[in-house]
Amino acid sequence: MDEKKEFTPSIIYGLCSWCGTGGSETAGAMHLQYAENIRPFRVPCTGAIDPVYILRALIEGADGFAVSGCHPGDCHFDSGNYRARRRTAVLKSLLDTFGLDSERVWLRWVGHGEGKRFADTVNEFNDHIKEMGGNPLAKRRDT
Ligand code: FES
Repeated sequence: MDEKKEFTPSIIYGLCSWCGTGGSETAGAMHLQYAENIRPFRVPCTGAIDPVYILRALIEGADGFAVSGCHPGDCHFDSGNYRARRRTAVLKSLLDTFGLDSERVWLRWVGHGEGKRFADTVNEFNDHIKEMGGNPLAKRRDT
C-alpha cells in the first residue's frame, strides 16, 4: 500500500470574504468535486491574515496552509491582497531560512466567479501536500 496515497493532509485554507469565498460558493453551485479535508476559514481580506497565524498553524501540526483572495487590482480593501503577497513572500523566505518547507504555504488568487479555479487549487494543493508527506514539525511535536 502506498503510504503517501493513504495520507490525508490537514490543510487550512484562508479565504477573503469577497472573491475567495465567492469562488468557493461558485464551485459549490457548479457541483464541482474537490478534496474534503480542507478546513476553510473566512477573513474580511487576505491582508488580514497575519503570517504568525500561518506559522502557528504549521507548528501546531497543519500539513499545509493556503490563502485565496481577490486578484491584484480587485481587492475590496484596495491593497490588502498586495500586503498578503508581500507577507507571504517574507514568511516563505523565513521558512526556507530555517529549513522548513515553504512549499507548505500557497497563495493563489481566485475570483468570485472562478469556481473551477477554486476547486483546482484545492485539489492541486492537496495533491502537492500529499506528495510532500506529513509536516515534520507535527511529527516532532507528537514524539
Ligand atoms: Fe479579497 Fe482583499 S477583499 S483580497
